[in-house]
Amino acid sequence: MKTCVAIIGGGPAGLLLSQILHIAGIDTVVLERRSRDHVEGRIRAGVLENGTQSLLRRASVGERMDREGLIHGGFSIAHRGGMHRIDLMTLTGRNVMVYGQTEVTRDLYAARDTMGGVVLHDVEDVAVHDLRSDKPHITFNHAGEAHRLDCDFIAGCDGFHGPSRQSIPRESRREFERVYPFGWLGVLSETAPVDDELVYAGHENGFALCSMRNPRLSRYYIQCRSDENIADWSDDRFWTVLRERLPVDLAARLETGPSIEKSVAPLRSYVCETMRYGRLFLAGDAAHIVPPTGAKGLNLAASDIHYLSEALIQWYGSGNSSGIDGYADRALSRVWKTERFSWWMTSLLHSFPKNSPFEQRMQTAELDYLTESQAAMTALAENYVGLPY
Ligand code: APR
Ligand code: PHB
Repeated sequence: MKTCVAIIGGGPAGLLLSQILHIAGIDTVVLERRSRDHVEGRIRAGVLENGTQSLLRRASVGERMDREGLIHGGFSIAHRGGMHRIDLMTLTGRNVMVYGQTEVTRDLYAARDTMGGVVLHDVEDVAVHDLRSDKPHITFNHAGEAHRLDCDFIAGCDGFHGPSRQSIPRESRREFERVYPFGWLGVLSETAPVDDELVYAGHENGFALCSMRNPRLSRYYIQCRSDENIADWSDDRFWTVLRERLPVDLAARLETGPSIEKSVAPLRSYVCETMRYGRLFLAGDAAHIVPPTGAKGLNLAASDIHYLSEALIQWYGSGNSSGIDGYADRALSRVWKTERFSWWMTSLLHSFPKNSPFEQRMQTAELDYLTESQAAMTALAENYVGLPY
């Protein structure tokens, strides 16, 4: 088998790259370890930056998003019993779109189907070879048979646990990591969202987030222990703890109901430098992880794909390699700024078990300052709607 760009991983990063390259006339093959049902069913964050929205539209996958997505011109921070609105539109002139990553993934698969894109599911034992040559290849098993895929470039879009990053020799990469001493317990329920916009709540008992998917589907999270046992969390217990962490007025309006999904996610910041080794390029979660506060994971995968697709289109169009040579630096510059923002927002709003009373006062002072200062709110807003690329 032969292609121009072999893409490992059929999550949003891999599918978006395949879609953009296909539109530019560049052939790709996507290799995905899981079944399509599994990939399309994963529930992840749901806030799309302005730049992500434009990129999806340019990739011809914006139609349903524009029809069904909810445009949000702001969100609230709940703190000390009050609600403080961050008016994204007034502060930055831009908005965000609430549209689940699950839906983005389904739209990408539908578009790949329509265009006849090649996506192989349930592939096993993917291994990359000859990365430093100009003819790398991949070996894998599919439907009980061994295969070889020859290509010009390999895009490692295989998430945090995939093999691409591990195939870069240890001495050629440096890893940066922070694991947070807590997780998020998330619940999806067929109830009306408690507010028209998202609410991020900082409370001494721990963080809480009120989000949504549509007018009859709510997504809520509470800070929990990272080793939390989901079996210990009845729906009632979840709603009680969530209510305690919200301002009284808001808590009174909370509509509760049976959860249709409940899961615990650990929180981590992680960056791999470099994002390129020979003919292998990493993108999305394969190269970096952000904690979910601020919902940057998918958006960061999208900006990587923007840089990478531009670079490959330039190379195939004119043989100019400046884009591919500059990819890692360009992508990492935006990655680090977004890592900083996600770390900052996480630090601001969560309760850290080992924080001293001094550090707790600093956190409160920073939240007070944020909700009183137009300059501080603008800094938050411009990061939340997404830094330019
Ligand atoms: N072979 C083939 N595919 C693999 C392998 C492998 N050995 N290992 C992992 N994969 C696949 C996974 O099954 C998954 O579908 O790679 C895909 C990676 O997808 P994601 O984890 O969704 O990562 P990415 O596409 O970078 O999307 C980033 O997803 O995790 C969230 O917060 C993140 O929202 C962000 C977005
Ligand atoms: C979500 O809706 O799942 C969501 C929204 C905002 C975040 C994180 C997750 O910051």
